[in-house]
Amino acid sequence: MNASSNPALPPDAPWIVLKFGGSSVARVARWGSIAELARQRHAAGHRVLVVVSALSGVTDALKAIGESADVGERRRLAEALAQRHIDFAAELGVDPALLAPWLAHLSELAASGGGSRCQGLYAWQAELLAMGELMSSTLGNAALRQAGLNSRWLDARDCLQAQPQPNQNEWARWLSASVPAQRDDELRERLAGRNADIFITQGFVARTADGCTAVLGRGGSDTSAAYFGAKLAAARVEIWSDVAGLFSANPREVPGARLLRRLDFQEAQEIATTGAKMLHPRCLSPLRRSGVPLWIRDTGNPDLAGTEIGPEAPDAAPSIKAVSTRRGITLVSMETIGMWQQVGFLADVFEVFRKHGLSVDLIGSAETNVTVSLDPSENLLGSDVLAALCEELAQFCRVRAITPCTAVTLVGRGMRGMLHRLRDVLADMGSLSVHLISQSSNDLNLTFVLDEADAEGLLPRLHADLIAACALPAEEDEVFGPTWAQLYAGDRASRPQPWWRARVEALRDIAAARGTPAYVYDLGTVRERARALRGIGAVSRWHYAIKANPHPAILRALETEGFDFECVSPGEVDAVREALPGLDPQRILFTPTMAGDDEFADALAQGLRVTFDCVEAVRALADGRHGGRSIAVRLDIGPGRGQHAHVRTGHDSKFGLPLADLPAFVEAAQAAGLVIDTLHAHLGSGVFDAGHWREVGLQLASLAERLPTVTTLNPGGGLGVPYLPGEPALDLGALGAGLDELRAAYPRLTLAMEPGRYLVAEAGVLLARVSRIKRKGRHVYVGCDAGMHTLLRPALYEAWHPVVNLDRPDAPRTMRADVVGPVCESADNLALDRRLPADTAVGDVLLVDIAGAYGAVMASDYNRRGRPLEIVLDGGAA
Ligand code: LLP
Repeated sequence: MNASSNPALPPDAPWIVLKFGGSSVARVARWGSIAELARQRHAAGHRVLVVVSALSGVTDALKAIGESADVGERRRLAEALAQRHIDFAAELGVDPALLAPWLAHLSELAASGGGSRCQGLYAWQAELLAMGELMSSTLGNAALRQAGLNSRWLDARDCLQAQPQPNQNEWARWLSASVPAQRDDELRERLAGRNADIFITQGFVARTADGCTAVLGRGGSDTSAAYFGAKLAAARVEIWSDVAGLFSANPREVPGARLLRRLDFQEAQEIATTGAKMLHPRCLSPLRRSGVPLWIRDTGNPDLAGTEIGPEAPDAAPSIKAVSTRRGITLVSMETIGMWQQVGFLADVFEVFRKHGLSVDLIGSAETNVTVSLDPSENLLGSDVLAALCEELAQFCRVRAITPCTAVTLVGRGMRGMLHRLRDVLADMGSLSVHLISQSSNDLNLTFVLDEADAEGLLPRLHADLIAACALPAEEDEVFGPTWAQLYAGDRASRPQPWWRARVEALRDIAAARGTPAYVYDLGTVRERARALRGIGAVSRWHYAIKANPHPAILRALETEGFDFECVSPGEVDAVREALPGLDPQRILFTPTMAGDDEFADALAQGLRVTFDCVEAVRALADGRHGGRSIAVRLDIGPGRGQHAHVRTGHDSKFGLPLADLPAFVEAAQAAGLVIDTLHAHLGSGVFDAGHWREVGLQLASLAERLPTVTTLNPGGGLGVPYLPGEPALDLGALGAGLDELRAAYPRLTLAMEPGRYLVAEAGVLLARVSRIKRKGRHVYVGCDAGMHTLLRPALYEAWHPVVNLDRPDAPRTMRADVVGPVCESADNLALDRRLPADTAVGDVLLVDIAGAYGAVMASDYNRRGRPLEIVLDGGAA
């Protein structure tokens, strides 16, 4: 036996409670980790209580036994369960005979179909349900002892006594019991007398005052761990499961969701109550009352940092910590005419909810309407219950049930003080059917209830919008940890260091020698991105959308990499021709917007490829002067996509030919002798869904089936670049695989694409010099010589660019400041609410990263502040 696990600690040594869920305890390999964790905690001077759930799936199987009226079936199910535990004992290498008393009791309970000493169906079901934890903890104790720990098995029923609650019905008394959880010195002394420092017990189970078994209901093992933590006045409770902790959004939907390193009890309660499945909301209040901190960790990766929940938040400034969603919400809208001010109206209607056993979550009220929401996780909401409720409510008001809805909740501190940051979020919500908005009176949440169909795909956009608006301060690394993708998705998320990291000295020298503001581009990075895209074999022709950055050196570099060009104006066409004299005009694709007839005619006359998006422009060529030429048509095939409303170019924008006009367009083209060889669609900019271009291509391909002259599909550009910290990069492999499928399905058609940003954004930085630092109240403004006239994106799209002080690149960033420019407009900013080194000073050089796309090209001479310099580095030379 391992000496470290002998009772070596004084009886008043602090306790740690470790809780492991069903999927951890059902895997043999995990018991090695569980033993190791217990050993480490013990070695650090803690007495350890391990609380376990039943093996995964066992509680459901026991529930099925408890709900079956057929004794034969109950016996069969019980035998299968017995066998599963015997097999697992063998896998663990422990003696299955340890299970014998439990297996005998299980078989007795299954056969009897009713309580032995404890009368009633629910008492019998509770006794059955408890068997899962009694067996798993018995096997677990043997596994711990086998691993060399001197552990003791503890019957949780001897420690947790269920207490009837006011208004509690019979079902809840047995199957969703509550236990008072104050410090329990009698229990501490009892365990001190047991000649061990490490114990293992069951989650979920308790005992009633008359000595029968009761269980704690959903999430019961977490709750048990919390009760034990409070009773033992533990140093902390640790909940070990399959994920590292709570995240800023559901990581299955938002790979860029950030691990929440630290939360206070109230925030965690709010996150758990509004949708996070990781933690049962019931387990927090016993811990909060007794001030015992809670850690959440990943059993499979014990070295990953997790979430720590404690009495105090590290940062009390207003901020959003998480976005959560709950599906399956039902709204009940009650329309009253002239009754609203009537005394007792609400009492009357809420009495009806009470009578039907329904607990109301959110409430919205107006002069003639009260709307409430019912959460399915708190209510047993069958359609019959709802119909009965509505029928009875109808005597007081006109009732309408709206279902299914989704509740989207922003959780954080000081929501009221943050509404101004939510401009974009609210703009997004504006296009959806929002039925109810509710702001909690504790100022910890803001909830929108919308049609379930409208909530599809909303979460990733919302999460990114909140970071961009600095409402979710992702830079606060005390609170926000790595993204889910960084923790679990491997390489794609861990982006390489930006090119300039190795050139900080050189950039400072450039700023000193050439002046600021200056954009600096690294051609090596442009070539790297170009090669990555050329690796996508399904695409035959790549056009660089030069609007992103028409610098001649970049155009030349991309031409060498085999790129053609996409231009939106005659000026852009000229820029390509000047940079690359003699370029074949067929390598230039001209896709103007709202251009006049002359522009189209001129482009055709120059021999360019031309994209049309309206019928009139083609009709103007009816004289046949360009007969025989091939053209592309840009179609409006759906709602816009992308990172900001201003860059979404689908329905509700001026772009694209409506599909209804396609027959007229085809007819006009035929009349003019023009051949439609390409179908094109570009729905927006900054898209991260790698399947997007395949979907657009599929839609175009199905249209092409009716147009035999079409040989090429062009699903546009818009490839997203991660600007936000920790945001995962676009998965080019998946993009390419999608396009391979498309090609395989339509072998007759070739593919063209026209990315801009992807090629140049990360290749460019903006250098600016600090000109003034100004404090106003608690606000710090760091003013510099670049502003909205230099980089318009933050002012125009609330775009988020990383900002680094090049003179103090490694200094701790402890000062919160707005980085602003010298332009006479209050929108003039480069970055809001950022962390900079506290000693940032006038004269320092700031670097604004990921500025190579839509940077210099959108600069202006507004306020006569002059345009920025542009400097190109090729292999290190300026
Ligand atoms: N093709 C068409 C028809 C376009 O309209 C655009 C961009 C692109 C391709 C290239 O999209 P990209 O791959 O660069 O996302 N100024 C905004 C972006 C405006 C994009 C306009 N059209 C920004 O700074 O985010």
